[in-house]
Amino acid sequence: MSQALDEIKIGGLGASRKRVEDNRFIRGKGNYTDDITLPGMLHMEILRSPLAHARIVSIDATKAWDIPGVHLVLTGEMMATRNLAWMPTLSYDTQAVLATDKVRFQGQEVACVIADDPYIAKDACEAIEVEYEPLPVIVNPEQAVAEGAPVIRDDKENQQDNVIFDWEVGDAAGTDRAFEQADVISRLKLHYPRSHPSPIECCGSIADFNRATSKLTVYMTTQAPHIIRAAVALVAELPEHMIRIISPDIGGGFGNKVPVYPGYVCSILASILLERPVKWIEDKSGNLISTGFARDIYLDGEMALRRDGKILAVRMHCDSDHGAFFSDAQPSKFKIGLLHSAFAAYDIPVAHLSDRGTYTNKAPGGVAYRCSFRVTEAMFFQERMMQAAADDLGMDQAEFRRMNFVRDDDFPHRTPFGFLTDSGQYGKCLEVGLKAIDYEDFRRQQTEARKRGRLLGLGISTMTEPLGAGNSREYDILGIKMFDSADLKVHMTGKAIVRTGARGQGQGHETTWAQIVSHELGIPADDIVVEEGDTDTAPFGMGTYASRSTPVAGAAVAMVSRKIRAKARKLAAHLLEVSEEDVEWELGRFYIRSAPDRGVTIQECAMAAYSNMPDGMEPGLENTAYYDPPNLTWPFAVYIITVEVDPETGVWDVLKTVAVDDCGVRINPMIVEGQIMGGLTEAYAMANMQFITFDADGNCVGSNYMDYLLPTAWETPGFELHSEVVTPCPHHPIGAKGIGECAAVGGPAAFVNAVIDALSGMGVRNIDMPLLPDRVWEAITYHRDVSGAPPVRSDD
Ligand code: CDP
Repeated sequence: MSQALDEIKIGGLGASRKRVEDNRFIRGKGNYTDDITLPGMLHMEILRSPLAHARIVSIDATKAWDIPGVHLVLTGEMMATRNLAWMPTLSYDTQAVLATDKVRFQGQEVACVIADDPYIAKDACEAIEVEYEPLPVIVNPEQAVAEGAPVIRDDKENQQDNVIFDWEVGDAAGTDRAFEQADVISRLKLHYPRSHPSPIECCGSIADFNRATSKLTVYMTTQAPHIIRAAVALVAELPEHMIRIISPDIGGGFGNKVPVYPGYVCSILASILLERPVKWIEDKSGNLISTGFARDIYLDGEMALRRDGKILAVRMHCDSDHGAFFSDAQPSKFKIGLLHSAFAAYDIPVAHLSDRGTYTNKAPGGVAYRCSFRVTEAMFFQERMMQAAADDLGMDQAEFRRMNFVRDDDFPHRTPFGFLTDSGQYGKCLEVGLKAIDYEDFRRQQTEARKRGRLLGLGISTMTEPLGAGNSREYDILGIKMFDSADLKVHMTGKAIVRTGARGQGQGHETTWAQIVSHELGIPADDIVVEEGDTDTAPFGMGTYASRSTPVAGAAVAMVSRKIRAKARKLAAHLLEVSEEDVEWELGRFYIRSAPDRGVTIQECAMAAYSNMPDGMEPGLENTAYYDPPNLTWPFAVYIITVEVDPETGVWDVLKTVAVDDCGVRINPMIVEGQIMGGLTEAYAMANMQFITFDADGNCVGSNYMDYLLPTAWETPGFELHSEVVTPCPHHPIGAKGIGECAAVGGPAAFVNAVIDALSGMGVRNIDMPLLPDRVWEAITYHRDVSGAPPVRSDD
């Protein structure tokens, strides 16, 4: 009889184990960068530009130097003497560390003061006198390419205009031919507004250079510590083995903590110059105004349709606004990230996408905010376009999607832009969602309500998205191939430590990686500790963003566990005095095939690895695995939302939200649900209330939490989640697909579609997010589309 352990009881795959990291978080015992104090530590503050575009005439820091307690004032000029005024970005551009010639966005870093405490440093920043000569300001791509527009990046040789790139993908000629065959052509134009990831903890660093050992240790808020180590080595020209990046607990990242920010570089230089630890902690407005924004992309597309509803082709053009520096962190090969993953869920023969990226006088944009390199924009446009096309055809929204889905037996499926999707049950997920929302009944209620002047709407968003870059053949960042790794050490008593190159920021890696080891080795999850974020101890990894941790680092954890099991099998054969071929495995135990009662536990094997190994075997039970995924993982999701819009005020309320997510095998169902709820909350916030934009002078409007609202439990509607559809990923070792960002990616279109649906028959095709009451009211009152593109009036 089997003596296998009960996987759920030991906290393996499928166990809704409570998050172990929460033990310290809910006690207020997390250890964030700002919690760390080092002996002799100084504090750094940054002086930022009040203007969006201006020539710097002079900087006079004399008064700042005179303030008691000030140790150092850094300016661009000083940085330039050390070749550090500019730094490379993750997209082969350059970015100013401290401005030398011009300021190019409001909030740009102009000078830094390092002092005994942050208050002295802040006062000293205010004592620095900067004379600016204002220049004309550009806040959108149209202005950027207009005749006579000032060249923002005149620091760059050969840059004659504000265009960063012109990029295209797909089959232009084939798409043109398909459009000639169309019965109906549906068009949609929209702006996905700038949004800010806005983690609760701002960015910060403590640089600690030790002259005696030549070692530089940096505690910092980074989602990708190994990449930062490489960047510091290259920018500061320090030997990589003398750099230790420690990313302690992180209070949310959402892509905001991937880039290298000037504050990090300045704190490092200051520590080297002063030979004392230097702490920089950004304040909220600094974070909101100057760190990486997301989205800000103008999408204009059309769909060629057959009268019966079959999609023949899609054409998309985008203008992407990258701000003053092109600093997106994304695979080198794809200038506009994975925007071309759009329409992967549908069987579309041919498509073409072009994108023109421009510089504007805004903080750098393009951060993949809870998103895999622009898939949020892709899926938003896709699902808004699907709704517009079904309406143009006079077809039912669900039926239009259903008839165009890639079918279950069509996998692997090549998308029109060249991706290979490998698995899914799209139709089944949609049916679960429709049943949960009671689709037919809601449509009846909607018609009835309309007769009485009430505006009810239903929005659907269905999508598959690519999670888990890379494979290394196609995906690299600055030439560094995208893969990941895990390192597992099993101690002699059978307890273990697993380390990965990922870096969680609240996703629960410390809980779920242990569950994977537990599933593979039968060691109870409580006996496994997980560590991430220290480049001196963790194996190399590309970091955590783009929901890539489970697809890549999680796979590496499974693979290293299997290496350990292979060695443990040899130890078991030795202990049982049989040949390895006669040994079978069941969870937690090896046994003799012909005598199942005779077995040894994984813990006994661990002890033998240190005390009773066979002759010639290397002692110990530890290993490392590097994992280069063969493909991305392709989760599928259906989000259906019903709303009621008040025709008098434009205020809209969510009636019901249904989410059906198929992310393959769920390691920890409770954590997966948390991820979906968090993503839906952010989707709701983007659709409804997060207003951050720019006026004609480049002032960042809404850079405070009164305008840029973060929904609390009070504002957030309830969510009904469904988990009954599970399509294991065919190439992931445990069948898991990523989930972290799905709801934030697919959710916004469902909310907007619901409001637009409520306004059906009023001639309203689009309202740009956020769908603030005044915008919805304007659409209802004047029967017209409402744009949210900048510039806005400052008093908006
Ligand atoms: O890269 P990131 O951690 O942000 O995203 P993810 O890989 O999608 O994982 C988010 C969290 O959900 C992690 O704790 C995962 O281990 C967990 N997860 C899961 O339990 N089952 C899945 N199929 C996918 C993720």
